[in-house]
Amino acid sequence: MASLLHRLAAIIAFLCIATFFSATILVELSGSAEAIATLKSLIVWPGLLILVPSIAFTGASGFALAKGRGGKLVRQKQKRMPFIGANGILVLIPCAVVLDHWASLGAFGTSFYVVQGVELIAGAVNLILMGMNMRDGLRLSGRLRRSA
Ligand code: HEM
Repeated sequence: MASLLHRLAAIIAFLCIATFFSATILVELSGSAEAIATLKSLIVWPGLLILVPSIAFTGASGFALAKGRGGKLVRQKQKRMPFIGANGILVLIPCAVVLDHWASLGAFGTSFYVVQGVELIAGAVNLILMGMNMRDGLRLSGRLRRSA
């Protein structure tokens, strides 16, 4: 049960970041200021409302599942989690809030695109780290065979 909830929360968190990331690139390519502003607003609300608890729950349930368990895979997952959390709280959330504010004012200057670039890089880093945690989690639960 705990493992199922951990897996569900992990998938929701991963899909949130993947959706925000790809939708951001798509609306930027569309070039419509209105579409960009709408997306920036949706990422903050309800986006962050779904993303923040799902990452927090993934971390907390992961540490609970790891109790009394050792091994390289668990240690590597544990080490990645503070980076995933800090990246979310210190970079992704502030970027999302600032970009939403600027987009609502129609302020699409250099600062907007610098912060947008930082947000995309931080999002990509978290997708990679979360992807590695998923791979190691699936190995731990026996759903994915370890390569030799
Ligand atoms: C965002 C970060 C994380 C993601 C995306 C993630 C993802 C996953 C996934 C997909 C599984 C497979 C679950 C299943 O097959 O039922 C799993 C299992 C597991 N995860 Fe995580 N996890 C994360 C964080 C953590 C953390 C911080 C720990 C603590 C060390 C952890 C410990 C475990 C353990 C011990 C299992 C094996 C559970 C079992 O035996 O069924 N996870 N994880």
